[in-house]
Amino acid sequence: MLGSLNIGLLGLGTVGGGVFQLLQQNSDVITQKLGRPLNICRILERNMDRVRQLGVDPGLVTSDPGIVLNDPDIDIIIEVIGGVELAREFILQALSNGKSVVTANKDLLALHGKELFEAAAAHNCDLFFEASVGGGIPIIRPLKESLAANRICQVMGIVNGTTNYILTKMSREGRDFDEVLKEAQELGYAESDPSSDIEGDDAARKMAILASIAFGSRVTYPEVYREGISRLSVQDIKYASNLGYAVKLLGIAREDEQGVEVRVHPALLPLEHPLAAVNDVFNAIFVEGDAVGDTMFYGRGAGAMPTASAIIGDVIEAARNRQHRDCIRSSCTCFYNKPLKPMGEVISKYYLRLIVADRPGVLAAIAGVFGARGVSIASVIQERTIGDLAELVLITHLVREQNLQDALKALADLPVVNEIASMIRVEGGPSN
Ligand code: HSE
Repeated sequence: MLGSLNIGLLGLGTVGGGVFQLLQQNSDVITQKLGRPLNICRILERNMDRVRQLGVDPGLVTSDPGIVLNDPDIDIIIEVIGGVELAREFILQALSNGKSVVTANKDLLALHGKELFEAAAAHNCDLFFEASVGGGIPIIRPLKESLAANRICQVMGIVNGTTNYILTKMSREGRDFDEVLKEAQELGYAESDPSSDIEGDDAARKMAILASIAFGSRVTYPEVYREGISRLSVQDIKYASNLGYAVKLLGIAREDEQGVEVRVHPALLPLEHPLAAVNDVFNAIFVEGDAVGDTMFYGRGAGAMPTASAIIGDVIEAARNRQHRDCIRSSCTCFYNKPLKPMGEVISKYYLRLIVADRPGVLAAIAGVFGARGVSIASVIQERTIGDLAELVLITHLVREQNLQDALKALADLPVVNEIASMIRVEGGPSN
């Protein structure tokens, strides 16, 4: 058997601790599969309480990144410190020292992927990032390798566990967003500052990464359109359910003749769609390829052990590549420079909830506004009356988003329209 392959671990937080523990727990199977042991020989960490808590040999630990990054005996660096600037600096230094890198850092890749992959190619090293999207779910390598023969037309995902947990609770228990969020924070399912999750930023970063791979054209985080779930009303979730839909925070990356679109927003999904059954903190990514058809990847999108599972899988692959002196397979696959569609050009169906005057001619006036802008109504229900107002729930046929937005603007100016209470896109039907 070959001697140990040496690893430098940057960060011993939740994920770093998981990596350390999983390497201990499953060292026998990992060694057998790789044909040699993996050995963490240096760890960058300042928090010595954490070091003691995990039973890590303090002799391995340093607070000086250079000691890890410049150690000639280290072959592979695992970056799990998070954040953008320091992580970027450390990864570039590791690559320029000829070390392969495994990272879980979606924030970094969704902003600086191009620079980092170019550096990896220049130094003939691997830069692997399976854990950056969907935690323990294998999705990056399947998209890059197993599905490489396909033209990918669509990637649709529930890629944020916090929001999926909140939406599941709102839907099952009929409770408001604020109340469920507070409970999720108390239980440790949501961060004390939950904005990155609930406003869709975390999901947008993951969709930027997935879209770049799926369409072979780099998409960065700021280019992804996003809306979060903080303004979703439990009333809409109830109405959607009565109409046969689940409400999910969806990441959608789609390519057609008009270009590539990448967006994150709440969406109504038909209950029979496989993603509609993905509940609680689980994530799933639904991929449509021209040869394979529909596929779905499901699992835990966060947590120490699921994330460590993806990271160590990457380490094993990087270790094999180093043994065979072949890092070409992992190189960047953004071969094209495809334009992104402006949001106004996106085609979708829409769920709308309007509060309007309850008297003859109102529906006709509303229908006139939609008709004049090419928006075709598929169904209208008067759900209830509130005093002398009526609550209308409409679903449109497929329409260009700009037409819908123009119609909403015109509706807001109609004296009979009291409020446009909600607009939620409808996805996952037979024609989208
Ligand atoms: N905060 C993320 C989530 C996990 O709630 O899914 C890390 O990406």
